Formats: sequence, structure tokens, C-alpha cells
Amino acid sequence: MVSYKDLGFVNTREMFAKAMQGGYAVGAFNFNNMEQLQAIIVACVESQAPVILQVSSGARKYANQIMLRYMGQGAVEMMRALAKEKKLREIPIALHLDHGDTFELCKSCIESGFSSVMIDGSHHPFEKNIELTKQVVDFAHAHDVTVEGELGVLAGIEDDVHAEKSHYTDPNQVEEFVKKTNVDSLAISIGTSHGANKFKPEQCTKGPDGILVPPELRFDILDEVARRLPGFPIVLHGASSVVPEAVKLINDNGGKLESPIGIPVPQLRRAATGPVCKINIDSDGRLWMTGGIRKYLKENPKEFDPRKYLGPARDLLVAMYKDKNEKVLGSAGKA
Ligand code: G3H
Ligand code: 13P
Ligand code: ZN
Repeated sequence: MVSYKDLGFVNTREMFAKAMQGGYAVGAFNFNNMEQLQAIIVACVESQAPVILQVSSGARKYANQIMLRYMGQGAVEMMRALAKEKKLREIPIALHLDHGDTFELCKSCIESGFSSVMIDGSHHPFEKNIELTKQVVDFAHAHDVTVEGELGVLAGIEDDVHAEKSHYTDPNQVEEFVKKTNVDSLAISIGTSHGANKFKPEQCTKGPDGILVPPELRFDILDEVARRLPGFPIVLHGASSVVPEAVKLINDNGGKLESPIGIPVPQLRRAATGPVCKINIDSDGRLWMTGGIRKYLKENPKEFDPRKYLGPARDLLVAMYKDKNEKVLGSAGKA
């Protein structure tokens, strides 16, 4: 058993309490490799923002779970050295399991140094979700690890988010869920979804600049959840913005992304200033990294040193994460 405290991580309890009080959200950024991790650390130290490093089970397999532990530890050491060099404050970093689906996976992550885990029982019937989440909470809390649960199923690209109301979180269930599980934060479904195609073009209206504007998130559900759980940290998954600049960078350089649509920044700002304390972003990082690599390779077809194309892509990621902290989450300067 490796304690996250020995690796220099923090759990999310104090992070969320401060975010709730300060009217901002902490960025939960997924990573799978060294360049993504470096970019997150550099950006968050430079913008002095607390951060949640987020690992999916797919990322854990890809990066190798042993390697991942040392990468996480290395990220903390890198943060400390960078803060010292730049004469800035050290930032709080949580290492979080994203969408854990079994008790065993959550337990394994806790035992290898994660400070926070998500148990995603949202696809199970309500009672089973409660039972599974509580099992994880009991183990996690014994190690002072925080737990995120989920109620409601995020819309998929094939779903019509207007018609399939059953996918949204039912506010009638949240008090019972939190009381019976003792979970530390709750992910809810209010119209976001994973990936770069969050809405179908026919669900959108055309803005003055010709850009497709998706339907507004269900802030009425968010508000009702917050009314029933005052001061309780809410989590928003599927919160990439999929900005046209990133899509253009990919498509101008040989890519073929069709009708990608994300969540408009003003809506994320609204969520972040309210009860949402954690905002998950993965796809935006994937888009900028892919765009950067594509552009470099298109312009330099004879190059074959990975550092040459991964370096500029990493620089784009640094800029993107700083922008998220400063303009989307409001977490800059809160470390
Ligand atoms: O919620 C999903 C995250 O974007 C992680 O995606 O399972 O492909 O690593 P992944
Ligand atoms: P995006 O696909 O919108 O980046 O969402 C990521 C996420 O929710 C990870 O859990
Ligand atoms: Zn998610």
C-alpha cells in the first residue's frame, strides 16, 4: 500500500470547499502520456491553479499502472521544482481515477497512491449504484481518499438529449444517494457528453457568425440539485468546448473531423461560478495535441524525431490549460 500523502498528493475535500466558497471550479484534466502531464503541471503552476490529474482505466492500461504511479510522483516533484524556480507557490494536486467501474479497480488505485476515485455506478439501477458506491466510500474513507459518485447517464451522440429526459439526473434521488453513500462529490447529467461530437448539428441553431450553437445545458436541474444539497460539490463531465480553432488546426492539416460541437464557454463559466466544483476536460487536450502534431508533420515531412513534433504540441496544451484555468474555471490564482 502506497499512501498518496507520501507521494505529495492531496484529496479533493479542501480543494472543493475552497472552490465552493470562492465561486470557481477545479480543472480535472485527463492524461495518458508524459507530454500531457508536463503540460498540465507547467500550465497550472504558471497560472497558480489547483489541479486534479485524471486517469481513466484505459489510460491506466495504456501508460502501465506501475509507470503511472511514478509519473504521478514525478509530476509532484516537477511542480515543486518549477514553483521554486519561478518563485511561485506550490499548487495542490490530486490524483484521481476517472470512471472507475468496479470496487476492485478503485481499491487498486487507492492502494497505489491515488488520492481520489470516481465510482461510476450510473448505469446500474439506483439501489445497486448506492450499494457499490457505499462499498467504495467505506474503503476509501478508511484511507482518507475522497470519492466521486454519479447519478444520471451522460447523453451519448446517438441520443436526443431533448427527448431522452431519463438520461438527465433526477433531483429527487440526490439527497438519498448522498446520505446513504456518504460520497464526497456527485457527477450529474445536465446535457453534456463525452467526446468531440456532443450534439448533432440538427439540434443546434446557427449563430450570427455561422457557428452552430447547441441547446443550453439544463441549469434548472443543476439549480434544483444544489437547492437539495446546499454547499455540496457537483461535478461536470463531458465539458470540453471543442473550439473551432482546434478543429481547424486538425482539418487544415489532413484531419477529417465532421461536425464536432462542444459546450460553449459562457455555460461552463456559469456552472463553475455556481455549485460545480470540478470540471472534466479530456477531448480539448486531445484535439490541440493532435492538431499540433498534424501541423508540424505536414510542414516538416522529413522530420522523424518525436521530440520535434511532440514539443510544439505540448506548448499548445500549456496554452490551452492556462486558458481553461483563467477564462473557463476561474481557478487561476487560487492555489
Ligand atoms: O470520460 C472519459 C475520458 O475522456 C477518458 O477517455 O477512456 O478513452 O481514456 P478514455
Ligand atoms: P470531454 O470528452 O468533454 O473532454 O469530457 C471528459 C470527461 O468527462 C472525462 O471524464
Ligand atoms: Zn467523464
